Amino acid sequence: MKVKLIGALAVSLIVATFLSVFGFAAAKDEGTSNAQLQKVDYPTGYRHWTHVKSMNLLDNHPIADIFGGLHHIYANDLALEAMEKGTPYPDGAVLVFDLLEVSTDAEETATVEGARIRLDVMQKNEKLWPDTSGWGYETFKGTNNERIISDPIASCHGCHASKVDSDFVFSNFRE
Ligand code: HEC
Repeated sequence: MKVKLIGALAVSLIVATFLSVFGFAAAKDEGTSNAQLQKVDYPTGYRHWTHVKSMNLLDNHPIADIFGGLHHIYANDLALEAMEKGTPYPDGAVLVFDLLEVSTDAEETATVEGARIRLDVMQKNEKLWPDTSGWGYETFKGTNNERIISDPIASCHGCHASKVDSDFVFSNFRE
């Protein structure tokens, strides 16, 4: 009986040790080497956030092939506060670049918003995305929200790097 009890204790000690070592390794991995695999959250409710500004890139703009169309930029409360104060963006700040087709109304007397082409998102978390200065980048396709970014440095951060002085953000809030 005594032997059995000692045996059971030994087994549970081994299991506990294994779990804690394994658990520790998994947690560590999440925050470091797999950083770029961490998914940016879909910005649910962004249409109710603060509208920062809008712009319409015409066909002759140098990057019209990717960003051509009418875009609106939105900031959640944490992002807006940093943008207005000119301070670094805190964890939890999210910025959205909502790109729409430009269309004409039925009477052909007005330019109107068309279908959504894509939704570009920047989400700040220093631990999750250390390789891109804390910014996670993602594009959700306009039609079905499919994620399409596999290399955020080449596709996004490389260009945003020119704005290092404003924490990689281009836009300023239009008063
Ligand atoms: C060729 C340069 C370039 C590339 C590549 C680029 N952006 Fe941007 N991005 C800009 C510019 C310029 C603006 C500001 C647009 C404006 O002023 O209306 C911007 C604005 C944004 C904004 C709004 C916040 C801000 O910085 O003003 C988000 C969000 C964003 N981009 C996400 C992305 C994502 C995600 C990718 C990768 C899929 C990406 N961008 C790739 C140039 C780029």
